[in-house]
Amino acid sequence: MSGLGHTPDLLRPDVALDGFNTLRLPARAAWFARVEDVDGLRAVLDDPRVAGLPRFVLGGGSNLVLNGDFPGLVLQVAFHGRSKIFEDEEAHYVKAGGGENWHDFVRWTLEQGWGGLENLSLVPGTVGAAPVQNIGAYGLEMAEFFYSLRAYDLETGKTVGFDKADCHFGYRDSFFKQGGAGRYLIAGVTFRLPKRWVPRTGYADVARALAEAGIAQPTPLQISDAVIQVRQAKLPDPAVLPNAGSFFKNPVVSAEHHARLLADYPAMPSYPQPDGQVKLAAGWLIEQAGWKGRVLGPVGCYARQALVVVNHGGASGAHVAALRAAVCAEVLNTFGVELEQEPVTLGMLSPLS
Ligand code: EPU
Repeated sequence: MSGLGHTPDLLRPDVALDGFNTLRLPARAAWFARVEDVDGLRAVLDDPRVAGLPRFVLGGGSNLVLNGDFPGLVLQVAFHGRSKIFEDEEAHYVKAGGGENWHDFVRWTLEQGWGGLENLSLVPGTVGAAPVQNIGAYGLEMAEFFYSLRAYDLETGKTVGFDKADCHFGYRDSFFKQGGAGRYLIAGVTFRLPKRWVPRTGYADVARALAEAGIAQPTPLQISDAVIQVRQAKLPDPAVLPNAGSFFKNPVVSAEHHARLLADYPAMPSYPQPDGQVKLAAGWLIEQAGWKGRVLGPVGCYARQALVVVNHGGASGAHVAALRAAVCAEVLNTFGVELEQEPVTLGMLSPLS
């Protein structure tokens, strides 16, 4: 086994993934490797013990549903480093390794005086996972300040660059969830943070937190603090109550469908889209369907934000799948709206989406 000599510590057989997913679902990976650079990654992939096996790229595990054991190789991205690589008259260009913690990276940019990412404070997960689902919160999507990324192509073994257009960013969506799903390991991401900073305080909860603190003209760090306060009040801390953030995407319906629903539910929150369709609040739909704070076995919809599925202890992927089916059926039955799961599923049982 020639590969053994190159990867004495990296490749581990039969590893429990419980601690690597924030929903804390139990599952085992046939093989697991924590990779810190491209050389380490290449050595692992060349190892004959994992030749031909399926591979899965793991970030912080905060947007992941484990649905049974994985008979392949899990690659945990631990590419580190963060630096300003360039500056022009208009912007700072800041780069971070795919394995950097997202929130720590955001706070670091703010401490350097480079505003922009503050509304995305406290989003769990890694820098490398952020572009995959185009993380968004409080009126900002990551795509807005994204500049480029470098990814390792697991099919060709080459490192490739992607600019913004290549990534096809959409609402909680990108090329890396579509045509490129499962193929790339995101090694590093570069952000373009404009020097002319514009505060984004339109989101009601954030505006309220700032007003309560008596701050009329907030700095980026003060907005970050307000966002942290709002998130901590509404969203469960995965370290305390395991969860994977929003479990469903906010669904988009036709203007006609929206008009019919509004006639029956005048208080329904809705967000008109540029293409004439209307985005609905999945959390509101789930609450109206009676699922807020309700449990099914060891899992349930969080009492303060129905869109978040929580594990009260001892849940498996099958429990999550059962809750998902029950909630989807109820929302479909009540509103004629189909919900789509937001986190990625990994496992060999029947796929969840
Ligand atoms: N709502 C309810 N009941 C609930 C939850 C929400 O009535 O149980 C209503 C709220 O009152 C509000 C509307 O639904 O009128 C929207 O709720 P909220 O502002 O909490 O945001 P969201 O649409 O539920 C999205 C993101 C979150 C992000 C927040 C804030 C998605 C799938 N989720 O949630 O992102 O933090 O906006 O910007 O788009 C995540 O992706 O993991 C995530 C947490």
